[in-house]
Amino acid sequence: MPAELSGEINGATLKIVQGDITKQTTEAIVNAANSSLMGGGGVDGAIHRAGGPAILEECRRIVAEQGRLPPGKAVITTGGNLKARYVIHTVGPVWHGGSHGEEATLASAYRESLNLAAARNISSISFPSISTGAYGYPVAEAAPVALKTVADFLRKAKSSLKEVVFVLYDSTTFEAYARAFREITSKSG
Ligand code: APR
Repeated sequence: MPAELSGEINGATLKIVQGDITKQTTEAIVNAANSSLMGGGGVDGAIHRAGGPAILEECRRIVAEQGRLPPGKAVITTGGNLKARYVIHTVGPVWHGGSHGEEATLASAYRESLNLAAARNISSISFPSISTGAYGYPVAEAAPVALKTVADFLRKAKSSLKEVVFVLYDSTTFEAYARAFREITSKSG
């Protein structure tokens, strides 16, 4: 199994790789945060550790100005010491069985992050597998929602985004996204 799959959609590249999102060189990376924006474990902890205190300082200012970040919404900060220039923080849904609007909130987290990146003329962005760790969203259900949301965004209109990368930390998650990726890209032709 290759540790990378990629395809073209409307002049942009959609890619899935196995790796550590804090090492990515895309212009922005997305953080699976919680509403407090004060950091946490998982990818949130990894990004704050690698990016340093400048990220948390900006998160503090954002929360002071606009309050906690609702699930499905996104905000942008500096990338601090990361190779990425920006971190887009979004909050995915906590899984409660699938009949509490989780799918719509997950799609919104991806779409709002893409809208924010396009509004800032960002050309490349990396996503983790939002909500499939501590928030318990089954990855077999999350992967198609994530990839379809991104593919629909790229298909709909040209934007500054020319590269969207899913960076999956473990092989089980990578496999789940690889299956969904083949589904999506075979349909789109
Ligand atoms: N690079 C890429 N992906 C990573 C990394 C990393 N360095 N570290 C962890 N991951 C993966 C996990 O393996 C999982 O597949 O990110 C995915 C999302 O898992 P979580 O980080 O637990 O995020 P989530 O499920 O959205 O839960 C968010 O956890 O860390 C806290 O503060 C965070 O409260 C929030 C909650």
